[in-house]
Amino acid sequence: MSTTSTIAKGLDGIVAAETEMSYIDGINGILEYVGIRIGDLSSNSTFEETVFLLWNRRLPNASELSAFVNELRAAYALPEGMVERIGQLPKDALPMHVLRTLVSELALSDPNPNDNNTKAAQAKAVRILGCAPALVACFDRHRRGLEFVAPDPQRSFASNFLYMLNGSDPTETMVRAFDICMILHADHGLNNSTFAARVIISTLSDVYSALTGAIGSLRGPLHGGANEGVMHMLNEIPSVDDVESYIMGKIQRKEKIMGFGHRIYKAKDPRATDLQSLARKLAEDTGNADLYEKSSRIEQIMERELAHRGIYPNVDFYSATTYFCIGLKLDLFTPMFALSRLGGWSGHIIEQLSDNRLFRPKAQYVGPHDVPYTPMDNR
Ligand code: CMC
Repeated sequence: MSTTSTIAKGLDGIVAAETEMSYIDGINGILEYVGIRIGDLSSNSTFEETVFLLWNRRLPNASELSAFVNELRAAYALPEGMVERIGQLPKDALPMHVLRTLVSELALSDPNPNDNNTKAAQAKAVRILGCAPALVACFDRHRRGLEFVAPDPQRSFASNFLYMLNGSDPTETMVRAFDICMILHADHGLNNSTFAARVIISTLSDVYSALTGAIGSLRGPLHGGANEGVMHMLNEIPSVDDVESYIMGKIQRKEKIMGFGHRIYKAKDPRATDLQSLARKLAEDTGNADLYEKSSRIEQIMERELAHRGIYPNVDFYSATTYFCIGLKLDLFTPMFALSRLGGWSGHIIEQLSDNRLFRPKAQYVGPHDVPYTPMDNR
């Protein structure tokens, strides 16, 4: 009655879409956005320019970049009533649940939320990317009992977020560090949340629904939630001297070490290399050298114990120390990943819409057949 077919559990190795946005060579630890090495972008680009690159598949000239930056800045403001709405949210809510809820809610203030033509989808993407930092910052200030700080359209994406969060001028070093984090997290092939976004938009649903689903996917500890897991682990280890016994205990109990391992990379994630340098410098500058030393010691032990199985640091490992040194609270780490990845997700949504076919894989049914219906009284 049933035919069996090979099941690729976790869709491991399955190519399910074409993309012109990012390329990953997992064996050699290479990541490119539209052909440009990630290290070149993190050294030379800005988040705004990187998003333009991902959406247009080329770098902008000066006037194109300026126009895009202005468009994004014009979208910083929250829709009417949103600040009051955030003020009603429970203060103990998790920021990722808040971000997911509010991105979904943005559809309610869009007169044409279902318009999926390329121009409209891109305008929605700008709108959501532009105001998402204010959603996170406003909620964080609400839970701390502080007044909302209105976005400042004179500021870059990175500067504006830190300004709204803290209510003061961020230093140039912090702005650049945060901008680099945004560049590094912006896109990464058909990762779980990007796939979720593409699956949802493939029904010709809408941009808000696809991004809401992607945020829900990202928060899992096997995906973007791992950066918070790394920080929990660093907090649990009392000192550098305790790292060896802590990590060996986890390995012996066959527990996963957060921030290590990747479906695609069997070498060190190039984003982890960039973030490591950033984390080292920020940790020294902010008096958190012990945090970096603990991380570095963990990496050495993992190299010794698990590198032969292709388990190396991924993007989330050193981003934890980096975000901590920027002054972000632990439960804002994954929302930071989401703010950046909104750029990548939106690009994939538009890419999917431009050559859409409904995602609809099959499941291998492994249950019984021809089971008689048992009346309620006989169960
Ligand atoms: N620590 C210890 N062992 C590990 C780890 C780890 N971090 N990652 C994988 N393994 C082992 C795993 O236990 C399994 O061993 P065995 O074959 O003996 O059962 C083997 O390696 C294969 O692991 P898997 O989970 O089946 O591999 P996958 O390709 O499905 O998973 C992963 C990739 C990212 C889910 C996994 O490496 C993991 O859970 N890592 C920890 C969480 C994490 O850091 N996630 C962030 C990923 S990168 C950023 C992002 O995508 O958001």
